[in-house]
Amino acid sequence: MENLPPATIRKANAGDIDGIMKIERLSFHSEVVESKKVFEDRIAVFPDGFLIAEIETKGGKIIAGYVSSELWPYSEAIPYSNFSLNHSIYETHSNDGDELYISSFAVDPSVRGGKIGKHLFTALIDCVSKKYKLKSAILMVSSDWQNAYKMYQKEGFAAVSKISGFFPASENSGSEDDLSSAGIIMKKCLINNY
Ligand SMILES: CC(C)(COP(=O)(O)OP(=O)(O)OC[C@H]1O[C@@H](n2cnc3c(N)ncnc32)[C@H](O)[C@@H]1OP(=O)(O)O)[C@@H](O)C(=O)NCCC(=O)NCCS
Repeated sequence: MENLPPATIRKANAGDIDGIMKIERLSFHSEVVESKKVFEDRIAVFPDGFLIAEIETKGGKIIAGYVSSELWPYSEAIPYSNFSLNHSIYETHSNDGDELYISSFAVDPSVRGGKIGKHLFTALIDCVSKKYKLKSAILMVSSDWQNAYKMYQKEGFAAVSKISGFFPASENSGSEDDLSSAGIIMKKCLINNY
């Protein structure tokens, strides 16, 4: 994407919620969109792990993307329920956790392809790594979200397991039989950040 103004990355605050929810709704299938309350709780509970990208437009600053996260105690056997859409951060986050779970991530469709996503994603891992002792980062991506999957691979994440039928089918997922898509769990070791 050409002529994109530079994005500023900063921590989200409660006043950003409408801009965040707008991008959430534009980016995900209605059955995958998480609730405003879930996002408000993420900002309140772990503000160090919730970043937004802002760009300057003629009408003023607008939110162009966001990334949210939680800290989980490292485990080789994470319950699948931890990945559930709309789970409350109050049930899963611990400030002493050493695994960064990236819970949601999206860029406004009108400015995708201009490196805002990459900038946000790397800033999150860098910022949280500086303040907390992280062993690893983990996320779940739908098998339908190929652009995100490619980005995660480029950033050093590898698929470690797959949950069939985790996500409802996207509008363009093909045959009528294809009613859902797999959730792919990806991980990256961050031990060198110690
Ligand atoms: C995933 C997403 C956040 C990326 O944001 P973005 O600002 O468009 O991404 P960037 O321009 O920073 O690109 C970063 C990398 O993503 C991948 N990527 C992004 N757009 C792509 C495309 N159209 N085709 C192929 N790869 C693409 C590439 O690996 C790219 O790196 P490269 O340009 O060096 O090859 C954005 O596409 C989005 O919001 N998607 C919908 C929501 C979503 O899937 N979220 C992930 C939930 S797990």
